[in-house]
Amino acid sequence: MEIFDLIVIGGGPGGYLAAERAGHAGLKTMVIEKREFGGVCLNEGCVPSKTFLNSAKVFDYANHAAAYGVNGVGKATVDQKFVVERKNGVVKMLVSGVKGQLKRNHVTMKMAEAFIEGKTDEGIVIKAGEEKFLAKRLIVATGSMPVVPPIPGLRENLQAGTVMTNREVLDLTEIPEKLVVIGGGVIGLEMASYFSSVGSKVTVVEMLNKIAGPTEAEISKILQKSLEKKGVDFKLGAKVTAVEKDCVVYEKDGKVEKVAADKVLCSIGRRAVTQGIGLENIGVNMERGAIVTDDMMRTNVANVYAVGDVNGKIMLAHTAYREAEVAVNNILGKKDRMRYNVIPSVIYTNPEVGSVGETEESAKEKGLDVKCVSIPLTFSGRYIAENTDLNGICKLVVNNKTNTLIGAHIIGSYSGEYIVSVSAMIDLEVDIENIKKLVFPHPTVCEIVREAIFSI
Ligand code: NAI
Repeated sequence: MEIFDLIVIGGGPGGYLAAERAGHAGLKTMVIEKREFGGVCLNEGCVPSKTFLNSAKVFDYANHAAAYGVNGVGKATVDQKFVVERKNGVVKMLVSGVKGQLKRNHVTMKMAEAFIEGKTDEGIVIKAGEEKFLAKRLIVATGSMPVVPPIPGLRENLQAGTVMTNREVLDLTEIPEKLVVIGGGVIGLEMASYFSSVGSKVTVVEMLNKIAGPTEAEISKILQKSLEKKGVDFKLGAKVTAVEKDCVVYEKDGKVEKVAADKVLCSIGRRAVTQGIGLENIGVNMERGAIVTDDMMRTNVANVYAVGDVNGKIMLAHTAYREAEVAVNNILGKKDRMRYNVIPSVIYTNPEVGSVGETEESAKEKGLDVKCVSIPLTFSGRYIAENTDLNGICKLVVNNKTNTLIGAHIIGSYSGEYIVSVSAMIDLEVDIENIKKLVFPHPTVCEIVREAIFSI
């Protein structure tokens, strides 16, 4: 049996980056992937959805060109087949980039389904296809899959092609006339934003009384209004109870109602992939279907780590990246820990949302003494110059005791690009007085952070 210093199961963002960093550091590393390198993020998640959303943005601009003094553009149309082809091209380019990086870092790439057979004194026995390997250390990075609950008709219609998950929706070559989205979370809203822009009549059925889950309440309302303006219909406090061939049935305020659908997107969350990989053969602890890890990404089994969605902590690709680095650093003997409180999140709707840290609500729930400031994005000259809808806001949450930022929530153009600047301020615990001394380029939309700081 060939022995590796490190075997990584799963070639998504957590797995490929762990392999790349380990290979770079000189560890004899193998990464095993059963579908395609890049995982859900590159092949059927983050990146493909962003190519879709950019097409919608261009389309929206074209249709509103006259508002910027550009006439003669005419009524734009969307070639959905081309949008999917372009998406496939983008994915292909990035997947080959990932493989190139792994190769450059001397990582062995194996296309096979990996299975953990057991443990010996020398290491962990991994079966990959017909071969067996010995891993001195193991990183499990098997990711997550969409939750498809036992709602009557949901699975049957998924097989029949009427119901889609994130995978099928990104291969849709025709724009459905009526799209019903089950779940007003991140995936649901991004796809609602895209399909409503390009002409579908979109209805979002969401169980809670607000969209975008833990997003700051004021921002969630603005996002809802913006999407409603584009024609999205929201059924809030509505629980889907059945899916039929041409409609979705839901319960709202004790009444059963129906909404017609040509296609249905099921986006009600994801669950860790922990079944069928042999975790029980080495006794890995699990909780609610996800692998339990500490802040060094260690499981309860010596030399076994878990990074990315499989540990069920924060299911975001960039969380997986950092977890991968933390795991590899600890393997290399360099102490490193995750700090989950400074992980930014972005909703790539139009307008987009960037947030990090505590909301006013979560801070108060924790009993923190905070003050909040919320200012309109119209305090930024570039924002006004570039937008016709001027409803963006920037909200900051400050810890009174430490006089440092602990949260920022912004809705408006580019917020997903510059939210990381606030993550840095939170992570480094920069005093508000010192943030005031930072110079922001002018005119930019990110200047809004400076404006908000001076409004405290
Ligand atoms: P989610 O957890 O964000 O939202 C699911 C929503 O479905 C919740 O609001 C929930 O209340 C609702 N729901 C559950 N059961 C329901 C029912 N029977 N009827 C009506 N509503 C119901 O899950 P989503 O959108 O599927 O995303 C999955 C994961 O992918 C998340 O962890 C998300 O963070 C990640 N993701 C992140 C992106 C980003 O950062 N831009 C983009 C896409 C996905």
